[in-house]
Amino acid sequence: MLEFRNVEARYGGFTALRDITFNVRPGERVAIFGHNGAGKTTLLRCGLGDVDEVAGTITYNNEAIVPGSVYRNARRGLGFVPQGHNVFRDLSVAQNLKIAGLLHDQAYISEVYRLFPMLLVRRTQIAGSLSGGQQQMLAVGMALMTKPTTLMLDEPTTGLAPIIVQDMFRSLMEINRTTGTAIVLVEQNVAAALRIVERAIVLKTGGIIFDGQSADLARHEDLWSWF
Ligand SMILES: Nc1ncnc2c1ncn2[C@@H]1O[C@H](COP(=O)(O)OP(=O)(O)O)[C@@H](O)[C@H]1O
Ligand SMILES: [Mg+2]
Repeated sequence: MLEFRNVEARYGGFTALRDITFNVRPGERVAIFGHNGAGKTTLLRCGLGDVDEVAGTITYNNEAIVPGSVYRNARRGLGFVPQGHNVFRDLSVAQNLKIAGLLHDQAYISEVYRLFPMLLVRRTQIAGSLSGGQQQMLAVGMALMTKPTTLMLDEPTTGLAPIIVQDMFRSLMEINRTTGTAIVLVEQNVAAALRIVERAIVLKTGGIIFDGQSADLARHEDLWSWF
């Protein structure tokens, strides 16, 4: 379980997150929404141990997440798909996956190919020649090579066509259902994301203004005015 307790994050004199308390249970699917600059990326990076100035307590399976511990946290099961199509453009699909899994279990590549058959078909193709949606699937596949028990994704569908957005969300559901990996999904496609998560958190200027069932958020009359 990923737990934040009274977390505050700062960049120099600027407070990006204040009094953040929530948790993500094993196997849960949680979306994080909020306008630009609300602190969504900072929150994910705090969970990874990638923000230097943090106060409060962040733990994963009851062990502290401390600044600068990104690599160790990856070993402990925290996977991360950063914003943008973060793939090695000049390498093949298979080479990208192997590099991502270099310090982990290489045999897991067969599981990633099972989850993303498209990557198996295109395994010898140069990543830079894939479509945007395919590159994003590869980026998710790369994160999976670390065998995460919690997978955090920062706006994985931004810039993708609606039909590709659905493909991506279907894959995330499949990952969650067949591997039990918890999903923490930062998203701008609010309506579509609400259909695949159980719970949603809404951030506004660094604070949580909603944390509850996604169905309750979807019913909220003034939902759209929050973003
Ligand atoms: N490295 C940084 N240095 C200074 N300020 C930052 C840095 N990263 C983010 N911020 C500021 O922190 C706030 C939250 O940013 P961010 O977490 O990226 O929000 P979001 O992902 O919701 O758009 C914003 O006001 C942003 O300008
Ligand atoms: Mg962001």
